[in-house]
Amino acid sequence: MPPSPPRTAFITGGTAGIGRSLALALAHSGASVVVCARGQSALDETLAALRQANPGGAHGAVSADVADPAAMKAAAAQALSILGEVDLLICNSGFAKAGTVAELDDADFRRLMDVNFYGHVNTVRAFQPHMVARGKGDIVLVSSMLAVLSVYGYAAYSASKFAITGFAQALRQELMLHGVRVKLFLPPTTDTPGLARENQDKPALCLEMEMGSALNATHSPDKVAAAFLKWLPGGRFYGYATWDSWLQFFMAHHFPELTLSLADGELHGARKRLEKKGKG
Ligand SMILES: NC(=O)c1ccc[n+]([C@@H]2O[C@H](COP(=O)([O-])OP(=O)(O)OC[C@H]3O[C@@H](n4cnc5c(N)ncnc54)[C@H](OP(=O)(O)O)[C@@H]3O)[C@@H](O)[C@H]2O)c1
Repeated sequence: MPPSPPRTAFITGGTAGIGRSLALALAHSGASVVVCARGQSALDETLAALRQANPGGAHGAVSADVADPAAMKAAAAQALSILGEVDLLICNSGFAKAGTVAELDDADFRRLMDVNFYGHVNTVRAFQPHMVARGKGDIVLVSSMLAVLSVYGYAAYSASKFAITGFAQALRQELMLHGVRVKLFLPPTTDTPGLARENQDKPALCLEMEMGSALNATHSPDKVAAAFLKWLPGGRFYGYATWDSWLQFFMAHHFPELTLSLADGELHGARKRLEKKGKG
């Protein structure tokens, strides 16, 4: 029997993009939601939206940097004092920075790991004692389709997202022995403030590859959140928002060499188009 819908949820990065859409969709479905992020004005605005979506819920907004383990322990304590217990923990916060291995700074590599990977580790470890003691609930780690196949310009970002997969697979087994489910969600390209920031300083070749790719449509955060909530009750570990995400995952796992060749074709095609435009 699928688990009953979550009554309480904690979401990191719940004030913008995919996380905000998830927070509001959960509130609309009757859940009490606590969001966590750094910016206070977005926290205040999201809390007001949550109260409007579900006036009867016990909502909250907690300021913390996921990269700081002590701050996440304090955030967990604050969230539990508001919610009482957590049915659904969503580790969603993260950011992307594109750039070649040669171009990126050392600090870019470190910050991507600190926020995207250690941010999820810190959040899980802050809530794990509570969830294990309850013996039920779901933990969802949000990764990326760039954890299925990495391409030009995404070495640092993809490394931080591939790391989540290794962490999540082991955690899944550890926590299943305590009745807690661990799942991995792989969003596609989604129209969020984070994507807008990423596009500002993305290498021209990355942008050109994306424009020429048959499998790189940009989706709305509400659509991605709806797909997440449809996938959540089922038994599958990997979650995708779109059919083309599923196809990419299928190809990368069953035909890995062919998938690399297809990606190389897209790279060479993009470079030729850039050269024609005089930007190569
Ligand atoms: N958008 C896409 O195309 C896409 C594709 C694949 C995967 N993803 C993944 O999906 C997740 C959500 O992406 P998004 O595009 O919706 O992001 P977004 O629009 O940039 O929103 C990010 C959220 O995370 C919070 N956040 C960022 N850094 C944080 C930190 N250090 N500590 C606490 N909170 C932090 C932000 O608030 P503050 O800045 O105020 O802290 C905000 O609430 C990320 O993990 C991203 O890697 C996104």
